[in-house]
Amino acid sequence: MPKVVIFGSMNMDLSIDAPRMPAAGETLSGSGFLTNAGGKGANQAVASARLGAATHMIAAVGADAFGRELVAGLEAAGVDCGLVRRLEGVSTGVAVIVRVAGENRIVLSAGANHALAADDVIADLRRVAERGDVFLTQGECDPAATEAALRVAHDLGLYTVYNPAPARPAPDDLWASVDLVCLNETECQIVCGVLPSDDETCLEAARLLRAKGAGAVAITLGAAGSFGLGADGVALRIPAARPPEVVDTTGAGDTFIGGLVAGRLRGLSLEDSMVWGAAAAALSVSRLGAQQSIPTAEEVEAAL
Ligand code: RIB
Repeated sequence: MPKVVIFGSMNMDLSIDAPRMPAAGETLSGSGFLTNAGGKGANQAVASARLGAATHMIAAVGADAFGRELVAGLEAAGVDCGLVRRLEGVSTGVAVIVRVAGENRIVLSAGANHALAADDVIADLRRVAERGDVFLTQGECDPAATEAALRVAHDLGLYTVYNPAPARPAPDDLWASVDLVCLNETECQIVCGVLPSDDETCLEAARLLRAKGAGAVAITLGAAGSFGLGADGVALRIPAARPPEVVDTTGAGDTFIGGLVAGRLRGLSLEDSMVWGAAAAALSVSRLGAQQSIPTAEEVEAAL
């Protein structure tokens, strides 16, 4: 059975609601503080597993309380954590999140997320990956390890999905190893120099990314939905699913990507996977937190 293999970050999110962003030197009273499991890689792993895909995680946490809690949470969601290393002498990754009116601002401390080198990740990939699996990675781990993992996964015959978040420009020759790139507006501007603000600029950006070598492109546009350009060059415009209410957008993009990879394993087209991911993301924004907000496949099917 094909599976999803994810190399990515695991963070403990320290999240608080604020009436507005504080000015420099100002102290504001917030509310609704919570510590909850996050990290783009781990969020995407939980989304992939809850949406029905067999999912394996390659990652590192510190040998500390946050690390133990994060691994237990992933396992409870059904993610195989046999390749998650618990490292001495380094802290588990942490994200400090300020939520203002449902939107969030995030500051990261990478910690153990940057501890795995290219050789570690490649060895893990060779241990677990099989031709026909889906490989997914993001931008919160060591850049050299991330790029090497994409190249090796592609060479091994996996369908590779890259979410350059946080974004940084990638070497030109990396794109041929990316079967699907999924990114939001700001990431798109950093990666290809075009800010996608309407259908025309979405198409321009997506064509540029395909011209660089990416197989297919999915651009998330928040409340405006998403835009895709398939490997066949056909453009897709997917409206956002309407959330019952907007409580917290943390992890919504990760949930969408979980929908993309789980959809691929179900044999869905890129278009149908984007519709599925959008429905899952809409449910997630109506709930507080990152991993704790991600719906199951049954919940998504009921909402469609
Ligand atoms: O995408 C949301 C995630 O970004 C949060 O869970 C936080 O940990 C940061 O990695």
